[in-house]
Formats: sequence, C-alpha cells, structure tokens
Amino acid sequence: MNPEELKRSLAAAAARLDQVMREDLAPLANRKLAAVLEHALFAGGKRIRPLLTIQAARLVRAATDKETPPAPPAESGDLDRLAISFEYLHAASLLHDDVIDLAEQRRGRPTVNLRWDDGTAILAGDFLHARAMLLAGLAGGVACLGLIGSATQAMVAAEFLQQEAASSRDWRQETYFAVLEGKTAALIAAACESGATAAGGDPAQCKAVRTYGANLGLAFQIIDDLLDYLGDPAATGKATGNDLQEGKMTLPLLLARQGATAAQKEELERILLADPASRRNRFDRVRDLLEQTGAFAACRTRAEKLIAAGTAALEIFPATADRNLLTALGQYVLSRKK
Ligand code: IPE
Ligand code: IPE
Ligand code: MG
Ligand code: MG
Repeated sequence: MNPEELKRSLAAAAARLDQVMREDLAPLANRKLAAVLEHALFAGGKRIRPLLTIQAARLVRAATDKETPPAPPAESGDLDRLAISFEYLHAASLLHDDVIDLAEQRRGRPTVNLRWDDGTAILAGDFLHARAMLLAGLAGGVACLGLIGSATQAMVAAEFLQQEAASSRDWRQETYFAVLEGKTAALIAAACESGATAAGGDPAQCKAVRTYGANLGLAFQIIDDLLDYLGDPAATGKATGNDLQEGKMTLPLLLARQGATAAQKEELERILLADPASRRNRFDRVRDLLEQTGAFAACRTRAEKLIAAGTAALEIFPATADRNLLTALGQYVLSRKK
C-alpha cells in the first residue's frame, strides 16, 4: 500500500471521527469552552490514535471466526466513541504539554496558552481528560477505562521523569526510552489495545496489537524528536529547536555523543550546559554537529527497527488488507514530515 492509498483509506474514517466529535461536543453551552475546544481539536491533527483504535478492532474482527454474527450497528457507534476518547486524551495532553513547554505554536496556529492563557488551556485540557474517561468507560467498558486510565497515569509520571532528567542532566538512553514509553507509547498502545479489546480479541491478539502500538509509539516520538531538528515548521506546524532550548536530551543528542570525536563532544557539552537563550542561538551549529556525527541517520535506524518489531508482532493475524494498512502506517510514521 503506497502513502497515497493509505491516506485515502484513512481519510473517510478520519472525517467520520470528526463528525462524531462535533456531535459529541454540540451540547456544550459555554461559548468560550466551545471555542477553545474547536481550536484544540479541529486544526489538522493527524488522528493517529483514534484511527488505530478503529483499525485494531477491524483487524481482530476480520480474524475472528466467520461464524460469529456480525456486530450490531450500535456497536460501531460505540467503537467510534471509544476511538474519539483517545483523540480527546491526546488533545488534553497537548493542551497541558504546551503550557509545560511554554510552546507558542501548534499545528501552525498559536497555542491555546498563547491565544488565551495558561488557565484556559489547563481547564480545557481537564474537560477533555474527563470526557475521554467518561466515553472510554461508557463505550468500551471497564477494561478500556482501565487501559486509558493507566496510559494517562504513565504520561503524567513520564512528564515528571522528563523534567527531573533535564534538571539533573541525566543523559542515559535508558531514561530517554523510559520517558518515551510513558509520554507517547503508552497512549498509542492503549488506543490499539482498546480497539482489539472492544472487538472481543483474545489475550494473544490484544497483546500483539499492544506490542505493535507500543513500538509504533516509540518510533513516532523518535521521529518527532528528529523533526525538532530537521522538520520544516511550515509542514509540522511547530517550531524547530524547542528541545535544545529546553535542554531536552533527545535521541539525536544522545547518539551524537556516542559518535562524536573528543572535540565535537566537548563543543556539544559546552553548548548543552549553557543557558536556554544561548542554546537557542547555537541551534544551527548543533544541527550541523548532529549531522556530522551520524546521529540523525542512527536515529532513523533505531526507529526503523522499532517499526519492524511492531509490525512483526502482527504476524499472528492473517495477511489481509487490514493488516497491510497497519504495516503501511508503520512506514508512514518513519517517513512523516508532519
Ligand atoms: C504530537 O502528536 C505529540 C507527540 C506525541 C509527538 P501528533 O503528531 O500525533 O499530533 P497531531 O494531533 O497530529 O497534531
Ligand atoms: C509530546 O511531547 C507531548 C505528549 C506526549 C504529552 P513533546 O513535548 O515532546 O511534543 P511536542 O513536540 O510538543 O508535540
Ligand atoms: Mg511539547
Ligand atoms: Mg513536552
């Protein structure tokens, strides 16, 4: 499946999910809250997490005994509502993330904290967090509520770990991957596993889909960290150089320190130990050093390995169009520009 075919197959589901979110939020009486949610939810997000919930459910359903009666129509509505709970939780985490990271731009627009203020972003994030839990429980039952709740807990713990690592200059890869597992992979894995669970998957199927999601999530964040150096802000909708300025030791920096000569290592360390404004000023130089040390290429290789491991986990399912789509999504994560 080529990227264009993948885009076409996912576009219809994404449009339907947008409609489900609009209907879900239509009863909101408060005009300001409605305006903030419009800004936070309908600005060109890729909808990766809810699409994974839907696709994981399709994969499991297709692999289930054909004798099983087809799901009643009401159930597909529930699946959509379960899926949007993951988009809500994701959007809530970004609202809070942009406050924490002092970010000014997301999806090519001013962040809610900039356009309104921090309090507004926090409250809107809380609303979406609550709504996500409610929908996951109502539409997916207690198992899915447990999955989304555990993932949310992991995300918060990882934000604490990330802050501690930055301030204590903990530059271990082990710490970096622990942060990634919590802040990104946990939710993507839960989105996948919830779809499989809601479709009545057996434990082996749920585990396989979770493994796929966890690996996809790690690769997704590695590519995000790469885009923070190499991305085109016109495509990503966010500025480059934020991680360096914030002192976040992401994989490009960690791998550069391994591949660097003594002089390059010393130069990098001098920059990293400087204040945030100086680090921002040295962004172009750091990017050149990362290129020279082969760190960007090494990051890609790392992400490719994770995608290979994730897609291999799906081999317990028959090689159908639904499985191909998840494999293609893995390749998309590696080549994404936004
Ligand atoms: C951004 O996630 C935050 C990360 C986990 C890297 P996405 O890249 O999925 O964000 P949108 O919703 O498509 O903008
Ligand atoms: C992603 O973290 C946010 C969450 C997973 C909660 P980052 O702070 O690294 O992502 P961007 O670059 O702001 O999207
Ligand atoms: Mg951020
Ligand atoms: Mg962050």
